This record gives sequence, structure tokens and C-alpha cells, in this order.
Amino acid sequence: MLNNINKEQLREVTTPVVDRNKIHDELTSARNHVLELISRNLTEFGEKYPAETCVNGYYPLTENVEWTTSFWTGQLWLAWEMSGEDKFRIMAEKHVRSFGLRIAGRHDTNTHDLGFLYTLSCVPAWRLTANREARGFSLLAAEALLERYHAQAHIIQAWGDLNDPQQAGRMIIDCNMNLPLLYWASEQTGDPRFADAAQQHVRHAARYLVRSDASTYHTYYMDVITGAPKYGNTQQGYTDDSCWSRGQAWGIYGFLLSYIYTGDREMVELSKRLANYFLNRLPDDAVCHWDLSLLGTDALRDSSSAAIAVCGLLELIKHLPLTDPDRESYHQWAMRIMSSLTKDYLARHSDAGNGLLKHSVYHLADNKGVDECCSWGDYFYVEALVRMTQPWKPYW
Ligand code: GLY
Repeated sequence: MLNNINKEQLREVTTPVVDRNKIHDELTSARNHVLELISRNLTEFGEKYPAETCVNGYYPLTENVEWTTSFWTGQLWLAWEMSGEDKFRIMAEKHVRSFGLRIAGRHDTNTHDLGFLYTLSCVPAWRLTANREARGFSLLAAEALLERYHAQAHIIQAWGDLNDPQQAGRMIIDCNMNLPLLYWASEQTGDPRFADAAQQHVRHAARYLVRSDASTYHTYYMDVITGAPKYGNTQQGYTDDSCWSRGQAWGIYGFLLSYIYTGDREMVELSKRLANYFLNRLPDDAVCHWDLSLLGTDALRDSSSAAIAVCGLLELIKHLPLTDPDRESYHQWAMRIMSSLTKDYLARHSDAGNGLLKHSVYHLADNKGVDECCSWGDYFYVEALVRMTQPWKPYW
């Protein structure tokens, strides 16, 4: 599968972060700061959820709808793990009940993002507190996600109704992050259908969403009747053949997540190749533009992609042998990006707004969440911080 994919050499990190004590101090102080911000948001949000992105610096508050509410619940679980303070767990447990109602009533569940939604809300409740109800809700969500699998095309359809001709057979690179829910469901139940579908999907994602230069399409269409590949295009990227930064970051992290459950080493190699493509196209401060093809322009940055990539790199390092020639560079890059995010992108108390990580781009062409904080950027920054400052068992 990998033979046709470019093995681009990783360049040396720009401005290496050699002083590990310094970054350790920076991150320790960021941890305290972030806990204060999450604590403040806990009071401000109450039992509501932040919308996908801020609008003029502030999150509109919503019910438990759309694909991003669990990024707030995930921050609450991380805050509880960092601080041990019960107020975070208590609110996360309220969210679990809300996610239970959502999946039982199938409210706004016609999406592959059931993976994001339940992996960061109910699965941690089960993993961290043995909450059996949360386990049951997660299994219901896995069943609903499995319904989106097209047996002939071997892929999970990303968006919309399964019979919608605009969306039928469309897979997207983001879905790699949704697969852990399926692998987990097979582990829990002994029923192989979930993991089989995830494995078939990820193989097709590797084959069709990854281009031969190790960049990625955002989305790709398969024929749901014949199973034949059709064509790739973009939804949120610059052009159909450019490389949307967040898609590449989802790929770096997401292919690895399949490795964790399947042991397929090709997934690790694929993650490396995507990482090299990504890291070789970063501007001086190491925080990517919203599309990697825009390097050298004054295009906006997408800090959320940077935070996702840091988490992916930190996970990647765990699965590389000590002798891997790029292992240390990946670590340096992760520290370099994280240091930049912490110094120049993390919101300060003096900023007007209630997001954590400034300067992300959700969907430029639709003018949604442009140069705002977004809920997943906040979540992955906090995940990266936890990964870099304490032992942590992933929720994925
Ligand atoms: N999964 C949607 C996005 O990354 O914008």
C-alpha cells in the first residue's frame, strides 16, 4: 500500500527547543493558566455547550447539538485529571447524561462524528470512573456509527443521509479520528463487526485519501453500488488538489489510532510520511497556515491543526523504536510548535473572549470561525499540554 507514497525527508526543526527545562516551566505555568480558563468557562457555560467556534471572541452557547460539544466535555475530563477537582468531573457526568439522551433519541446523530462525540464524553467516563451507563451510551453510538458503513464501498459515510446522492459514499480524512469508537466497541463486546468496518475504512482512507506525495485529499467519493473509487475533492481546503492543514493533522494522528488497535505497522509509517509533509511546510513560528499550500503567503494560521499535530507527533514518538532516525526531530518539532502556541496563541486573561487557543480557521470559504478560537483547538491544546506534563492514558 505504501510503495507509491513519497518518502519525503524530514527537515531539521527551525529554532530547536534545546532547553527542556525552559519549556517545562512554560508548560507548567500554561497548565495552571488553562485550568483557570476552564474553571471560568465552567461557571459561564453552566450546563450549556460552546458552539463550534467563537463569534467575535466569544462562544455562543448551545444545547447538545452539532459535532463539537464533546470537545468541551473532553476538556472537563482533562481538567479533572490535571487537578483532581471534583467540579470538573461532576459537570462532565451531567454531560454524559445529556449524551445518553442524545443517542437514545437519535438527536442530530446523522454523522460520522459520533466518534468524536462519544470518544471524548462517555468513553472517558467509562475508562476513568467505570460508569456503566456511559459505556452503554458509547455502545449505542458505535451501533449508530456502524450504520453509516457502506458494505460495498467499504467506507463510513461522513455526512448526511445515506441516500443523499450528494453525500453517498463520501469519506473524509477527519473520520480516522472517529474509528477508535468502533475498535473500542469490538473490544468491549467481542463483536468483530465494529472493528472490521473500521479496518476496512482506514485501508480505503490510506489508499484513496492519501496522495502519492503524502499530502491528503479532504474528501473522496466511492461508488456505493459497485465499490469503485470515483474522485477526491475538498470541502474546507483551498483547492481540490491543495492540502488542507487540518485534514493532514487528522491524518497524522488518526492513522496512528488505528495502529494502536490493529497493530498494523503500515499505519505508523503512513503517519510519519504525512507528518514529514506537514512539518516541511510550516512557516517560521511553526504554526501552519490553514492550508499547507499557502506557505510563503500571509494566509491566516490554523492553530487548531497545529495542536492536533502536536498530539499526533507525541503519540507517534511512543510507537517508534529509539533507533528511528527521525524520532528526536519529531519530539523537537512537537516542543517547537507547542512553545509557539503557548507564547503567541494561548488566550490571556487580558484578552476579550472566552476561548483558549486563538487564531484558528474552521471554514474560510463559508466565513465560519475565521481567525477565532474553536472548541477542538481548545481541546487538543489541552490534550497536548497534559501529554507533555504528566503520564496520561488517551481517551481515543
Ligand atoms: N471535522 C471538521 C473539521 O475539522 O473542520
